[in-house]
Amino acid sequence: MMSERDRISIREREIRSRRIESQLIGLQAYQNAEIIFVYVSFRSEVDTKSFIRKANEDGKRIAVPVSIPNGKILLPCEISGLDDLVPGTWGILEPDKDRQRLVDSRKIDLAVVPGLAFDHFFQRLGYGAGYYDRFLPSLREDAVKLGIGYDFQLIDRLPVEKYDIPLDGILTDIRLLVRDGVD
Ligand SMILES: Nc1ncnc2c1ncn2[C@@H]1O[C@H](COP(=O)(O)OP(=O)(O)OP(=O)(O)O)[C@@H](O)[C@H]1O
Ligand SMILES: [Mg+2]
Repeated sequence: MMSERDRISIREREIRSRRIESQLIGLQAYQNAEIIFVYVSFRSEVDTKSFIRKANEDGKRIAVPVSIPNGKILLPCEISGLDDLVPGTWGILEPDKDRQRLVDSRKIDLAVVPGLAFDHFFQRLGYGAGYYDRFLPSLREDAVKLGIGYDFQLIDRLPVEKYDIPLDGILTDIRLLVRDGVD
């Protein structure tokens, strides 16, 4: 999945990311959200920077992950915009250390999460460290957990283990899968 994702041209990545972005901002879960947690795209992941800009303009409050490698924990920290970000762990953009504003996970209404692969049972496969499996249970029951990825990343069935947390929806450049009651 990683090499397939790396093979997409920058132009094509942009096109597919824009498609996902425009679907995303049309969702009820987006419209209703006051605070949105969203990963900051790295390498060939679906680009979220343009989404962050747009959500800011729409008056949404944005929290992005700060990873704490010791314990493999993600902390949601609020940013005012992309200018607040600097390269952190592994070069992933994160809010500047001195200016981290921790957000209570229970205030998050929508969480947009990355993945290497997703399946039709709303399961996700990450990078194998369990960061998101530790973070997702801290959200409110009614918060919407949405995975975004390129369509080829959505496969029939993934192997699942006991800590894997299923999502509420999966959005690709071509499809939207949602559980009953979501959007
Ligand atoms: N909540 C948890 N408590 C304890 N161990 C956990 C928890 N969540 C995941 N783990 C463990 O962490 C390891 C990595 O998990 P997993 O393979 O599911 O990662 P992943 O979902 O692919 O990665 P990520 O969430 O970082 O994208 C596994 O051994 C898993 O059992
Ligand atoms: Mg997992």
